[in-house]
Amino acid sequence: MRIAILGTGRMATGLGKGWLNAGHFVAFGSRRPETKAAYQTEIGADSRVYGFEGAITAGEVVVIAVPYAEAEPTAAKYADLLRDKIVVDITNPFASQPTDGRAGAELTASAIGDGARVVAAFKGNFSTTLLDPVDHTGEPRDVLFAGDDAEAKGVVAGLIGDLGFKPVDCGPLHAAVMLDLSVPMLIEMDGRLNGGQHNSSFRFSYSGG
Ligand SMILES: NC(=O)c1ccc[n+]([C@@H]2O[C@H](COP(=O)([O-])OP(=O)(O)OC[C@H]3O[C@@H](n4cnc5c(N)ncnc54)[C@H](OP(=O)(O)O)[C@@H]3O)[C@@H](O)[C@H]2O)c1
Repeated sequence: MRIAILGTGRMATGLGKGWLNAGHFVAFGSRRPETKAAYQTEIGADSRVYGFEGAITAGEVVVIAVPYAEAEPTAAKYADLLRDKIVVDITNPFASQPTDGRAGAELTASAIGDGARVVAAFKGNFSTTLLDPVDHTGEPRDVLFAGDDAEAKGVVAGLIGDLGFKPVDCGPLHAAVMLDLSVPMLIEMDGRLNGGQHNSSFRFSYSGG
């Protein structure tokens, strides 16, 4: 697939390298692509760094991997370009969790407007684990995801599997509230039980799953 990733930080780089390894084309979006020559060298000639508009245009799937505060404004600014695309919102609100009961990804979907195909995913996956999808027990780590568009969710589940993770469907986009709220718990537990190494992850065990 052609995947656009908005951002060139830790999450963007881990996801992008994983999908490049799996044979996808990745277009990274940067605020200042002209300053990214070294980054372009790091990610290799099979992918390219564009501005946001160029990356979105190049992708069938668009991953929003910018700071949470930038997610909604970015979705609003590029709404016309994002409307027909599958949009993966990985941003974590933390203290900026919407106070009206919505998930951060629901604000992203509202900013895109009618026809938005937003899937929330990767919120509870430390960037340091993205190229290490199998944990110390030999089992794949979970990637929890939520969304309202069944076809979009199927595509995202496939992309999660291509990275070597186990996709876990958590329900409609509104269920992304619990994904948002689970991240502080993960970080707290990683600190208490794992010395803050950021290589811990969720694995949800259930009958049939
Ligand atoms: N780190 C994790 O383990 C983790 C795990 C799950 C989810 N997340 C979420 O994933 C998103 C990205 O996290 P990250 O750790 O990859 O962040 P990061 O390393 O700081 O990278 C964020 C990237 O966003 C771009 N950006 C666009 N607007 C920006 C702005 N106003 N200020 C700063 N950067 C801006 C930058 O790329 P350019 O400079 O090229 O424009 C930057 O490289 C966040 O929303 C975070 O909550 C992070």
